[in-house]
Amino acid sequence: MSSESSSEYENIRFEIDENVGIVFLNRSAALNALSTGLMSELLSALHQFQEDTRIGCIVITGGDRMFSAGADIKEMANWTTAEAVSQNPLSRFDELRKITKPLIAAVSGYALGGGLELAMACDVIVAADDARFGQPEINIGVFPGAGGTQRLTRAVGKSKAMEMILTGNPITAREAFARGLVSRIVPSEIYLEEAKRLAHEIASKSPLALSIAKECVLKAGESTLREGIEFERHNFYLMMSSEDKQEGMKAFLEKRKPSYTGK
Ligand code: CAA
Repeated sequence: MSSESSSEYENIRFEIDENVGIVFLNRSAALNALSTGLMSELLSALHQFQEDTRIGCIVITGGDRMFSAGADIKEMANWTTAEAVSQNPLSRFDELRKITKPLIAAVSGYALGGGLELAMACDVIVAADDARFGQPEINIGVFPGAGGTQRLTRAVGKSKAMEMILTGNPITAREAFARGLVSRIVPSEIYLEEAKRLAHEIASKSPLALSIAKECVLKAGESTLREGIEFERHNFYLMMSSEDKQEGMKAFLEKRKPSYTGK
C-alpha cells in the first residue's frame, strides 16, 4: 500500500492512501473548532486532492472524541455585522461545493454547529455509534449560519430540524441513521477504517461517472424534480461518448475488471 502524508499544516494533517485522500482536523485543544486558519488549511488540502488525478475519493475526519465543535466562537465573538457582511467568512463553506470528487465525513464523538454543517456539506456521513449531531448555536444567542437551517431540514425533515435548531439539543448516531442524516453507523473502534474502506470502493469507479453522478445527486437538493431529471438525462447522454463508458461496458461484456482513465 502506497502512502503519503504532510506536516506542513498547523490545524489539519493529511494522508494519501493509494487513491484515497484523508484530511484529519487536528486542533484538538479547541475541539477542532473551525477557525479561519483551520478552514484555510482544510480547503487547501481539498484543492490539492481535487487536482491530484491519483485520488478518487476524499475522507474528512476529526478526533475520536470530537469531529468538530463548530465555528470558532472566540473569533466569532469579535465579529460585527458590517465585517461579517463585507468579509463573508462563512462563504468558505461554499468552497466545499466546488469539490467534484466524493467527500466522506467520518464522524466520531460530537459534530456540532459548523462541525455538523461541514459533515453535511460532504456527500456521505459514516458515523461511529457514539457520535452525536447537533446545532447548538441557539445556546449562544445565534442560529446556524453555514447551511444548517437548509441542509439539516432537507436531511431530517422540518419538524426534527426545528426541534434540533430551536433547542440546541443533539441527536444520537442511531437517530441520525434512522432519519437518513448518516448513511451508516459502525462501532467506534472501526469508524475510520469503515470510511476508508467505503472511500476505496468508491475510488475504484470511473472518476468521470463519479463526479457527474455526484453533481446530479446534489442537483436534487437544488432544483425542481423536472429540472433535476432533465439535468440527469442530459448528463447521462453526454457520458455515452466517454472512454470510461466504453471501457465499463466493454469490460462487463468481456467479463473482466474495468480500467478507467477518467476521460
Ligand atoms: N469555538 C472555539 N473554542 C471552542 C469551541 C468553539 N466552537 N468549542 C470548544 N472550544 C474550546 C473551549 O473554549 C475550551 O478552550 P479553553 O481550554 O481555552 O477554555 C476547549 O475548546 C475545550 O472546551 P470545553 O472546556 O468547553 O470542553 P467540554 O468537554 O467541557 O465541552 C462542548 C465540550 C460541549 C463541545 C463545549 O465545548 C461546547 O459546547 N462547545 C461549543 C459548541 C457550539 O456552540 N458550537 C457552535 C459554534 S457556532 C457555529 O458553529 C455557527 C455556525 O453555524 C457557523
